[in-house]
Amino acid sequence: MLPERIPQLDVSIGDRPSAGQLLKASTYEFRYLTATAQQPSVALLMPAAEKLTWTDGDLFAPMDQNLPEGDLFMRIRALFPKQQTTAMHLLALIGDNGIGRLGYRIPGADVPPVATPLTKEFLLDTRYTPEVFDDLVMAYLSSGSGIAGVQPKIMVPEARMTVPIPTLIVKAASDAYPGLAANEYLCLRAANQGGIDTPVFDLSNDGKMLVLERFDAVLRKDRSVERLGFEDIAALSGQRVRDTLSDRKYHGSYQRIAELLKQLQLPQVDLDRFFAQVAFSIMVRNGDAHLKNFGVLYRTPQDVWLAPMFDVVTTAIYRYTRYNGGPELEDRTLALKLFAGKHRNKTYPTTEELLVFGSKVCNVSAPAAVLRRIARGMQQALLEAQADERIPRELLGRMRDAWATGLEYAKDRR
Ligand SMILES: Nc1ncnc2c1ncn2[C@@H]1O[C@H](COP(=O)(O)OP(=O)(O)OP(=O)(O)O)[C@@H](O)[C@H]1O
Ligand SMILES: [Mg+2]
Repeated sequence: MLPERIPQLDVSIGDRPSAGQLLKASTYEFRYLTATAQQPSVALLMPAAEKLTWTDGDLFAPMDQNLPEGDLFMRIRALFPKQQTTAMHLLALIGDNGIGRLGYRIPGADVPPVATPLTKEFLLDTRYTPEVFDDLVMAYLSSGSGIAGVQPKIMVPEARMTVPIPTLIVKAASDAYPGLAANEYLCLRAANQGGIDTPVFDLSNDGKMLVLERFDAVLRKDRSVERLGFEDIAALSGQRVRDTLSDRKYHGSYQRIAELLKQLQLPQVDLDRFFAQVAFSIMVRNGDAHLKNFGVLYRTPQDVWLAPMFDVVTTAIYRYTRYNGGPELEDRTLALKLFAGKHRNKTYPTTEELLVFGSKVCNVSAPAAVLRRIARGMQQALLEAQADERIPRELLGRMRDAWATGLEYAKDRR
């Protein structure tokens, strides 16, 4: 049980325990505890070189980005009905397990016990039932609550690793979206075969759970784990997860994201990669590529790169709601506008528009070749899935239909 009020948390940054303090009074304040300019940044846009003390009326967006939303938040509420769930409480629950390299501890609190590691093989062999997944969540909630997003998921420490942080993410089936895990798996296979980098992933043998390795945790030669900084685009543009109905992650455009990546001085290869990620989402009919589904990884503010592609699903085959209780929509649009501007909208672009986005906005030299490469990856994934018993036939049929439209982008034009 956490205390009623949490006015202060010690903040660790990567390997540095107590690198700073987070204070909550009428406003939030973050203080670096040493006065050197050359120390790891708590966030890309909050370097110690600029200021040692930062304040904000709301929780700093890069800390807010991992606060549990959706399924995990509801489970935490159900588990601790009398517990306060202020942002400070949620950060204390996240502890060292948030995505990225920040950790939070109540001053003087004990080091939390390490959860029992599992092997990937065990997880892949687990037969999904809602009850089994509930048990998994209960067992790992304390070690894996540092994760945002709407779908049911949990983080688990992998037995192969010698480190006590959870390095596997298990995303489960959800009643609202039948076949979701297999759907995402098929998308990730197509991406890999189309030359797009993704986290290491696999689908459970029953086809109902997707197991992903964390891309923000790098195994060093000595088998210790380096934690990379991670910030999603929502955080980088000052938006918070739990803003009104999380709807803000659907505001903006892919063009603005490209501009932000340029401002952060990412090299051209990352803009090439960004174009491929956006084109891929468009071609597999993923209408949920919102601001939290893109991000950057970093070691220092000078060493920043685009994170691998994650959370891609052919959403066009489902009816859906954008937030709890929201209207049920047919997914016929993108999550964001392709181009910035008032008169622009979220409709799927024409081939011409997508190529202009590639060449003019992302400065890609041969965007049409990228679309052809993606199309080949999609076709390969469909072919391979035919022989894969984990993928339900009905789902495969529906995805093939949805992808047929996307494959048109790679057709020869007159
Ligand atoms: N392989 C990974 N490594 C590290 N962090 C990840 C990985 N996959 C996802 N994340 C982080 O976890 C968050 C939630 O994951 P994901 O987007 O896959 O879930 P979701 O519930 O489907 O999200 P959404 O709310 O977009 O539906 C992401 O926003 C990202 O910050
Ligand atoms: Mg997501």
